[in-house]
This record gives sequence, structure tokens and C-alpha cells, in this order.
Amino acid sequence: MSKLFDFKENIDDSKIKECALAIKKGKTVVFPTETVYGIGANALSKDAVDKIFKAKGRPIDNPLIVHISNIDMLDGLVEDINNIEKKLMSAFWPGPFTIILKKKSYLPDNVTAGLDTVGIRMPSDKIALELIREAGVPIAAPSANISGKPSGTNIQDIFEELKDRVDYILDGGNCDIGIESTVVKVTSNKVKILRPGKISKEDIEKLGLEVLLDDHIFNDVNKDELVESPGMKHRHYSPNTKTMLIYSINDKSMILKINEIIDNNNDKKICVIGFNEHKASINSKEYIEMGSKNNLENVSKNIFTSLRKVDKLNCDLCLIEGVVKNGVGAAIMNRLIRACEHSVIYVD
Ligand code: TXA
Ligand code: MG
Repeated sequence: MSKLFDFKENIDDSKIKECALAIKKGKTVVFPTETVYGIGANALSKDAVDKIFKAKGRPIDNPLIVHISNIDMLDGLVEDINNIEKKLMSAFWPGPFTIILKKKSYLPDNVTAGLDTVGIRMPSDKIALELIREAGVPIAAPSANISGKPSGTNIQDIFEELKDRVDYILDGGNCDIGIESTVVKVTSNKVKILRPGKISKEDIEKLGLEVLLDDHIFNDVNKDELVESPGMKHRHYSPNTKTMLIYSINDKSMILKINEIIDNNNDKKICVIGFNEHKASINSKEYIEMGSKNNLENVSKNIFTSLRKVDKLNCDLCLIEGVVKNGVGAAIMNRLIRACEHSVIYVD
């Protein structure tokens, strides 16, 4: 059983030291970040990194993000950082932002799933930063969930799922942002978003940079197709319950369509994940409030917890309301489309 430390009220220095030592010794520590919790291990140790893949049941072709606590740590990890990459780092680090860079050859191959690049992020969460600083080594950490499940953002879900799979779990309360970092790669002087996050296309464009969205952010990957970010290929975020996304720019049409599906399937138990404001207008027996329509940051914070509630309701079908694809909305829609395994109904 994992050792659980509660850092919600304050961070206990001696316990941070204990976990940092555990990292140095090759153990695994679940720690909070501002995006989602991560399962951390020493990025410089092949054996320690293997434990992460085992704990998650993660496919070995899906590379991990390496977390640092200061810019100097980059020297040991990557080469050839260009001016655009430097500009991105100074604008968005520490924060929910990952940059894919050319890796140094001695980084273990399993961290990067054999690629010659590595994703690097400097988180802003205090517990995460102190753990990395104290460990003195970069920490490889994917999201804290069994592979394919929604990422862990609250300690109850994480403890239930990982308590027999990792050495330590640090409770820092619910994650502020609730969806994983924006992942980008700079090629030919353009910034390509491989995974959308809180730092949006619009935020990056404000730096005067040209930004592209990878084709697979909203579209399915064909079997055997080569993708720039291996994570896109894998089933992710889906509840076991059959799930469908309903989207319209017009709220009334979206609600009408959802109620029509509920009416046409009155032999089935249906749950809906939707905006708080729509609860009264939707006729499902079970309704999971994902946050206010006017506050997509709040929706992003609740989205994985909402998806995790679905399977506990024992329904035949789950319908989810879509959100506008601007700003953080693009990141929410990317996760929802994948949770529904591309089963999406667009309504005029
Ligand atoms: O917010 C986050 O990024 C969280 C917290 C813990 O920091 N971490 C996280 O890690 O979401 P993970 O492993 O769940 O997602 C990493 C994503 C995957 O989609 C992976 O394919 C992509 O980043 N990735 C990692 N290294 C890459 C590389 N060298 N090239 C392309 N994509 C890469
Ligand atoms: Mg993940």
C-alpha cells in the first residue's frame, strides 16, 4: 500500500525530503501539479522509469514528460534550444506548458519511447517544484491514472486507482487547471500544438509567433498512421459506459437533441454530463454538473472528475454537452472527443 502524505494545509519539509530520497533511490511518487497529478520517478534511471510504465500499464511506445525545477537542469537533458523555444519558455514556464526538444543521448530510451526528442515541462505547483528541487534530478511523470482512464485530478480517485501500484502519494488538494499541459513542438519557425491545454493557440499567438494545430487534435488517427505525438493513437479518457458528445453553437438545439435522444431511448438508463445551467431543462435521470457555461476554466477543472463519475452510475449511455473550441475550450473538446472515441453529433 502506498504511503499517503497530506500537504493540503502545509508542506512538511521532512516528508518532502523522504519522498525526494525515495525518487533518488528509484521509487515512484504521485505528486500534484497545477494541471493534473503525475506519477513521478527519476528520469535518469531506466529502472525507475520502467516502474512508471508498469504502474500505469502504459504502452511502451508512449513517451513521458520530464519535469524540471529550474532552467539550468535543461543542460543535462537537451541540445540546441532555438530563440523561439527560449521565448516560449520565458513566457510560459513555470506553468502548464510542455516543449518537445532534441534530447541528449544518455537519457534512458524508455523515457522517450525511443524517440530522439523529449518533452520538458517546468510546473508551477509548489509541491512539485520542491520535490524536484530536493531530489536534484529531473522527474519523469505521466498523468496519475491507469492508462486509458481519465487523468487523476483529485486524491480520492487517485488513491482508489493507484494505492497498490506506487510507493508514495502526496495529497495537494484538487488540481487548479484539471487538464494536462499544452504540448508543443517548434518546426520551421512555427509552433505546432500537439496537445491543447490551458495555454491556448491565442495565448501563443500573442507572442507574435505563428501557431498550427496538429490535425489529430479533433480528428481520429487511422490505424498505422504516423503521428507526431504517440499519445494521440491510444484510447484515452473513455468511461466504460458508451459515451456520445452532442455539440451545437446554439444551446437550445443542443438541449433539444439531448432530450430527443433520451425520449427515443426510454428503455435505457441515460446520464448526461452538462453545464450547471442546463440541468433543469434536460430530462435525464442522472445529471453530472461539469461547471458553469460562463466559466470554461471551471469546466476544465471538473471534466476528468465528471468522466470518472459516469461508470459509478451504471447507465447504458452517457451524453455529454460540447463546449466552444476557443481558448481552453479547444483543450476541453479534445479530451471530450477522445472520451467519446469520436462518437460526436454536431447539431445546427
Ligand atoms: O500536465 C501534464 O503534462 C501532466 C503533468 C503530470 O505534468 N503530464 C502528462 O503526461 O499529461 P502524459 O504522459 O499523460 O502525457 C504526455 C503526452 C503524451 O500524449 C505523449 O505522447 C506526449 O506528451 N509526448 C511526450 N514526449 C513526447 C515527444 N518526445 N514527442 C511527442 N509527444 C510527446
Ligand atoms: Mg496521460
